[in-house]
Amino acid sequence: MNSKCFITTPIYYVNDVPHIGHSYTTIAADAIARYNRLIGNTVFFLTGTDEHGAKVAQSAKREGKTPQQFCDDVVQEFVDTWKLLNISNDFFVRTTSSEHIESVQKFLTVLYDKGFIYKGKYSGLYCQGCERFYTTDDLVDKKCPYHLSEPQLITEENYFFKLSSFQNDLIHIIETNQFQICPNERKNEILGKLKKGVEDISISRGSVEWGINFPFDKTHTVYVWVDALINYISAIGYGRNNDMFSTWWPAQVHLMAKDILWFHAVIWPAMLLAAGLELPQRLFVHGFFTVDKQKMSKSLGNAIAPSELNKKYGADTIRYFLFAEFPFGTDGDFSIERFELRYTANLANDLGNLINRVLNMVNKYFAGIIPEPANSVSCELSLLTKDFPSKIDVAFKALNLQLVLNYIWELITAANRYVQDNAPWNLAKNNDPKLNYVLYNLMESIRLISLYLYPFMPETSLKINSQLGFDKNFSLPWSQSVIWGQLKPGTKIGNLYPIFPKLEEKK
Ligand code: MSP
Repeated sequence: MNSKCFITTPIYYVNDVPHIGHSYTTIAADAIARYNRLIGNTVFFLTGTDEHGAKVAQSAKREGKTPQQFCDDVVQEFVDTWKLLNISNDFFVRTTSSEHIESVQKFLTVLYDKGFIYKGKYSGLYCQGCERFYTTDDLVDKKCPYHLSEPQLITEENYFFKLSSFQNDLIHIIETNQFQICPNERKNEILGKLKKGVEDISISRGSVEWGINFPFDKTHTVYVWVDALINYISAIGYGRNNDMFSTWWPAQVHLMAKDILWFHAVIWPAMLLAAGLELPQRLFVHGFFTVDKQKMSKSLGNAIAPSELNKKYGADTIRYFLFAEFPFGTDGDFSIERFELRYTANLANDLGNLINRVLNMVNKYFAGIIPEPANSVSCELSLLTKDFPSKIDVAFKALNLQLVLNYIWELITAANRYVQDNAPWNLAKNNDPKLNYVLYNLMESIRLISLYLYPFMPETSLKINSQLGFDKNFSLPWSQSVIWGQLKPGTKIGNLYPIFPKLEEKK
């Protein structure tokens, strides 16, 4: 039976420019979305932008723009970047859209009517960069761990959300995995913090103009984090389109990095519980892509623009590198040397050479026509791929994206070895009929490599399929396409060209 998959990325601050760090989450979500579509699930893949708050208003002023103009311009950069990276999101939510604003106001009215919102006074240490309060325990050397600056002591009269009422419920649902937080160390981190106690949080700002009006007090705007979290339900019609909302909610997975875990693992589920809504099934928390061990951002001046990398190496190389380089849950440092090394070793050599060699031999020895294998005996390559559908499915479900790539590279390595071991050039010289069988098996392996690579490298897969003269739109049902032997002997292969030219040739 097919299932539905509602997958989200965080909505990105327009105060920053799209960089490789944002791309990391977005490409991961895209690979998971593409895989789910491929296996026949119905998918709603959501991303978008977080556009309110004092920081945005300040940035707009600096650039001599209205906040809305400023947002529109930066949002375009995000939209263009995602297009460039072949992101297949089904919707792009903006927190300045009238639909989002309507949902936020309806949601807060529900919380207010249920008695979870009250007016009160709060003093705390506020980091402008994160737009959030920190406790002294959260700080490192009295500084915000992400912005490396000292937060300010602020006292405000605001509206509060009764977060503390949910402490025990949250501990219970997290401990029992009714609400899953992965990897496990993140779950433990949150449970540890929750057990120390939680305070009610202020959810309105009297001093911030660029925000959504608080529904029952127009002198306040909604705290930007509360506004932002509601994107996950406003995008699917909360309070506006019940059919759409009940089709998609709850989300199967919210993806994010560890910096915003508290909001997603504590504040967001508490808000949902207060409103009487189901919780997302799973939060998956990945590591940071750092440059010199620091998180990337415009303010730190170390952001790497995907458009620059794309110009030089192509979108698929970026998509591949980000997940091949280190496990999805851990941190990893970015470097152009590593990037080029992987391009040359894994893409140009392992994968590119395999395709070139094999298809050129089909051209040379069979005039570009896929040969009849003559016998249907399984070979080591067909045996290797037999349990790929289940292995790859398990790895995707665990969001172990690096493992999926490792399986695919096992097949690429095995196919390259098979070329060496069987030396088709000698078979051809000796008119050995085994040549048909060997080349067919290699072609079929390339077909499967292309299939499994598709979620990560969609453009490359389409190119490979074109060269194979096969299913250019990946339209075969999954259950059929994973079975060995789909390539039809007698088919003419497509035009050949190197898919991953050597870097010197590219330059
Ligand atoms: N606007 C909030 C999120 C609101 S969601 C309801 C926000 N935005 S952000 O643009 O600062 O960053 C959001 C996310 O971008 C991070 O959690 C992470 O998923 C991704 N990343 C940003 N920089 C990153 C790296 N350097 N490395 C990996 N992921 C990064 O927080």
